[in-house]
Amino acid sequence: MVVNNLLKSGFLAAFFLTFCIVKLLNFNLIAQQTYLQMKNKSLVSINDYSKGEQLKVLEAAREFEANPVQTILKDYVIASLFFEPSTRTRLSFESAINRLGGKIVGFSEAANTSVKKGESLRDSILTVANYSDLIVMRNPVEGSARFASEISPVPVINAGDGSNQHPTQTLLDLYSILKTQETLDDLHVAFVGDLKYGRTVHSLVIALCNYNTTFHLVSPVELKLPSSVKMHIKEKKLAYHQYTSMEEVIPQADILYMTRIQKERFSDPLEYERIKNSYILEKEMLHDTKRNLRILHPMPRVNEIHVNVDADPRAYYFQQALNGVYVRQALLSLILGIR
Ligand code: CP
Repeated sequence: MVVNNLLKSGFLAAFFLTFCIVKLLNFNLIAQQTYLQMKNKSLVSINDYSKGEQLKVLEAAREFEANPVQTILKDYVIASLFFEPSTRTRLSFESAINRLGGKIVGFSEAANTSVKKGESLRDSILTVANYSDLIVMRNPVEGSARFASEISPVPVINAGDGSNQHPTQTLLDLYSILKTQETLDDLHVAFVGDLKYGRTVHSLVIALCNYNTTFHLVSPVELKLPSSVKMHIKEKKLAYHQYTSMEEVIPQADILYMTRIQKERFSDPLEYERIKNSYILEKEMLHDTKRNLRILHPMPRVNEIHVNVDADPRAYYFQQALNGVYVRQALLSLILGIR
C-alpha cells in the first residue's frame, strides 16, 4: 500500500515536472518566433503587428527604459526622411538611435532634397535604401508609407502618413497607458478633439480594440471618428459612446486622450476658425475624476490643454513623449533583429 502510494506520488510529480518543462519550452518557442517574425518587418499600420508583437515591443521598451544607453546599433545606419514637420517623432527616433550608438542620415524638410527637382518618392526610397538599413518616413500623403514599404529592400517604419496612421505613436501610447494603469484591459478611454483627421487617434483606437476598451468619443459633429476606424470597434462588439461636449466624460475616464484640431488638414480656413476652440481642458474641470485618471496628448498642443493643467499629477503628456524614446529603441532593435 505504502509502496503503491509512493509510486503514485512519484508518477504525479514526474508528470507535473514534464508538464511545466513542456509549457516553458513552448512559451520560449512562441517568444522566439515572435522575435523572428518581427525581423525586417515594416510597420505601416498598427494592425501590421499582431497583439503579441505589439506587447513584445512594450516588453522590450521596459528593458530599454531601465538601460537606455547601449551600443547595439553601432553597425547600423538609419534613414530619417521627414517630408512633413515633426518635433517629437523625429527627435525621439534620433535620440533613440544616438543612445544606442547608431548613425542617422536623412532630412527634416523635403525642400532641401531632389524631391524639389521633381524626383519621385519611388526613386527617393530606392536610393536611400542603398545608404541605410532601415527607413523611418513621415509623409503628408496617405498610403505613401505602404507604397514605400512595398518597394523598399529595407524595412520601413511609418512615422505618420497624412491623416491615416501613426503606429509608433500608438505603441508609445499603449506603453504609457500600461505604465500608468498597470493594465491595458477593460479601460474607459476618452478621445477628445479632432477624431476625423487625428492619425494618432485612428491607430490607437484600432490597437485598443484588442483590450475590451470602452470608447468615449468627443468631437464636433464635423470631426467625428471615420467609419473606417469605427468599424474596428463594431467588429469587436465593444461599447462606444459619442459626445459633442467633454464635461460628462471626464468623471468616467481612466485615460483622457486630448488632441488638437488639425488646422493643416482643413480645406476651408473659416471652418477651422469656427471650431478651433471647441475643447479646452482647464484645471477646474478636473474636480471629479477617477483617482487613476491620466491625461495624454500626442502633442503638439495648441490650446486644447491649458498650461494650468501641466503641474497636475494626472497630466502625463511630457512623460508620454519621453516614453517614445524607449519604445522606438525597442522597435528598431526588434526590426533589425538585434535583440
Ligand atoms: N506626436 C507627434 O507625432 O508629434 P510630432 O508631430 O512633433 O512628431
